[in-house]
Amino acid sequence: MSGRGFAQHAVPTCLLAGGVGLGLLVWRWRSQVSDAPPRPSRRLPTCRAPWLTAGDEERPRVVLVCTGSVASVKVPELVVALRQKLDAQVAVLLTEAAEAMTSAKIAGRYAPESFTKWEELQQSVDVHVLRDLDEWEGYEDVSSDLVVHIELRKWADLAVVAPCSANTLAKMALGLCDNLATSFLRAWDPEKPLVLAPAMNTIMWEHPSTAKHLKTLEDWFGCWVVPPVSKRLACGDVGRGALASVSDIMERIAKCCEGMEGRRNSSAVGAWQRRGFQEWQKSPWLKEWQPRDA
Ligand SMILES: Cc1cc2nc3c(=O)[nH]c(=O)nc-3n(C[C@H](O)[C@H](O)[C@H](O)COP(=O)(O)O)c2cc1C
Repeated sequence: MSGRGFAQHAVPTCLLAGGVGLGLLVWRWRSQVSDAPPRPSRRLPTCRAPWLTAGDEERPRVVLVCTGSVASVKVPELVVALRQKLDAQVAVLLTEAAEAMTSAKIAGRYAPESFTKWEELQQSVDVHVLRDLDEWEGYEDVSSDLVVHIELRKWADLAVVAPCSANTLAKMALGLCDNLATSFLRAWDPEKPLVLAPAMNTIMWEHPSTAKHLKTLEDWFGCWVVPPVSKRLACGDVGRGALASVSDIMERIAKCCEGMEGRRNSSAVGAWQRRGFQEWQKSPWLKEWQPRDA
């Protein structure tokens, strides 16, 4: 065979063999992937997590709700203080906006040290960071899987919303519950302490709805408000609205932990009525009302 003839046959044959070989490799890889047993997940879904129904009886259990304020970069500092000063077990509930604020993209650039601490804390067995997905992920068996926002209420001795955004504050005062954080807060036992530390732009703070919503929550829960402080805010405005200092928030939390043992294991059922709030009753005029054809 001439050199030209050899090239004419050998090149397409090599290409064909290479193609078949590559195809076989891909097929083998795909069958290995699909036949492989599912990888064990990094941790159990929260609705089956043992910590949610157990926990150290001696130590306070704090649910820290973190919302979408720039001040959420202070959350790692708050978690460290909760653990060091109170030896607390902590569950942090992040709203979607808080998740964005505490991400590598925002907190990683704005407050790199705090972000590194945050990443470290999330590896700790005593700090449970939960997002909206944790309510639903793995939830399959209605009779045995836990309802996360309800179980968190039973687990916790104390709920803290810090930083509390204008949005979450308004949602609480209206009783809205469209994410893990607000479902947990709507289900909160009013006989256990609740601390709110608002943080927002000065004009948002001065808006009449802020005072109205805080007053509503004080009347309902007897909650503790740690007021924001005045300074130059992240947006450049100067005025009240910055999150109170971690030490001020901690001072209030420490006071709220006193006597926590006595509040454990009490049923929250009827707690609102014990506080003087009436359960819904049919309006009196409706009691008299009869359909015309009856
Ligand atoms: C950069 C940035 C900073 C913000 N800071 C605050 C803040 O300090 N306080 C606040 O109430 N809202 C702030 N917001 C608006 C909230 O993130 C927004 O209202 C959001 O819906 C809050 O959701 P959440 O309450 O579910 O966390 C900020 C938004 C952006 C983009």
